[in-house]
Amino acid sequence: MATFTIKGGKPLKGIVTLAGAKNAASKVLVASLLTDEPCVFHRFPKIGDVEITAELCETIGSLVSRSDSVLRIHTPSIKETRVTKLSRRNRIPILTLGPLLARAGHAEVPVLGGDKIGPRPVDIHIDALRALGAVVEVGPDSYRASAPNGLRGAEVVLRFPSVGATENTILAAVLAEGRTVIKNAAVEPEVMDIIKLLQKMGAIIELGTDRRIVIDGVDRLRGAEHSLIPDRNEAISFACLAIATGGDVLVRDARQDHLITFLNAVRRIGAEYDVSDDGIRFWRPGQLCGALIETATHPGFMTDWQQPFVSVLTQVDGESIIHETVYEDRLGYVDDLNLMGAKIKVKTACPEGSQCRFNGKGFRHTAVISGPTTLHGARLTVPDLRAGMAHVVAALIAEGESVIDGVEEIDRGYERIDERLRGLGADIVRSE
Ligand code: EPU
Repeated sequence: MATFTIKGGKPLKGIVTLAGAKNAASKVLVASLLTDEPCVFHRFPKIGDVEITAELCETIGSLVSRSDSVLRIHTPSIKETRVTKLSRRNRIPILTLGPLLARAGHAEVPVLGGDKIGPRPVDIHIDALRALGAVVEVGPDSYRASAPNGLRGAEVVLRFPSVGATENTILAAVLAEGRTVIKNAAVEPEVMDIIKLLQKMGAIIELGTDRRIVIDGVDRLRGAEHSLIPDRNEAISFACLAIATGGDVLVRDARQDHLITFLNAVRRIGAEYDVSDDGIRFWRPGQLCGALIETATHPGFMTDWQQPFVSVLTQVDGESIIHETVYEDRLGYVDDLNLMGAKIKVKTACPEGSQCRFNGKGFRHTAVISGPTTLHGARLTVPDLRAGMAHVVAALIAEGESVIDGVEEIDRGYERIDERLRGLGADIVRSE
């Protein structure tokens, strides 16, 4: 198990460049399975999560090679449709069902791994695949699917705009016969990035204004070259680090259009940013103030942003509220922050006047943060990727030394994070 030892208290200053988006990288690998021609991806991140997906694709029959941030993948033929024995797991295997059904007519993939942040069911994925004509059997350890006569376009109404289920439906629909209309689709920038790639590969995909995506199936897709969008989760993490430590960081390649809601939250708590052609610079001009933040699907405040932001909110003057409305159980990490001296209470009730689908269900999904508090170093274990970034932000503002175990979770989504933080002046050492 790898460990970070962090000595807090130094303001982080300088320039950091974003890697490609984790949550687009794995999906473009899966999209490449739709063609027997090579695909080339630029700004491809070196992170644990895509290594797991590359292994999945190699098991299926892909040839994968990379140099620096360029990754090449070519799947001339599908060699294996039963990919239940992988050495590590993430959330991606279920997304290969569409490509495998299109190219081989049948597939079996393992039930999903990934973060421990709630039950994370896949009913919306399965319902969508069934609507397109797939026969899907849900077993205790795997999903088995077949479509001997191919998939057919259909109207697919998602009961929640799930990112994964939207991507799954798109990946299954691009080579299906006829038209698919997805209603209540997710419109996250990472979903748009997959759509841009598929369009380059020859797909026909229309975007409606009302979370509607219309796909006209085509007979075949070709290889393509694509540059991934910069990772907006990395962007907000560096922003939180700059603000929390009282530093000043230019996040090179950060895109304003991907961060509109986050930027508003930054200004509401009294921090500042400046957008330029290079990226976005973040700093803290003076004392910060509390805010009410509600997570939501895009274009709202992303659920993956609340964890590092809560560490920032421990430093603001007064009370702040984080209302998590995407996952029912994504606030467990605040116990660790409380151990470090934060004052955070987690409640089941929604904030007054605000209702969400978790209202009255007893989920601990509202955090009330009282600040400012002095944090002190502690020994912590990373429970999941984004909570790990909350730990890192807290440790970098804490007095004294923190030891964070299990940082492989953080490596799943952040490229060489310790090295890049040292580049900003952080006192952080990795030991294996
Ligand atoms: N949901 C269902 N049924 C489904 C699918 C989703 O009930 O069939 C629920 C989930 O339980 C959750 C909500 O819908 O409550 C949203 O889930 P979604 O499907 O949108 O999430 P995902 O596709 O599994 C991706 C990212 C997550 C990110 C979410 C939300 C990847 C690999 N993961 O997950 O990223 O939090 O979208 O934006 O793209 C991370 O990067 O650390 C991470 C967890």
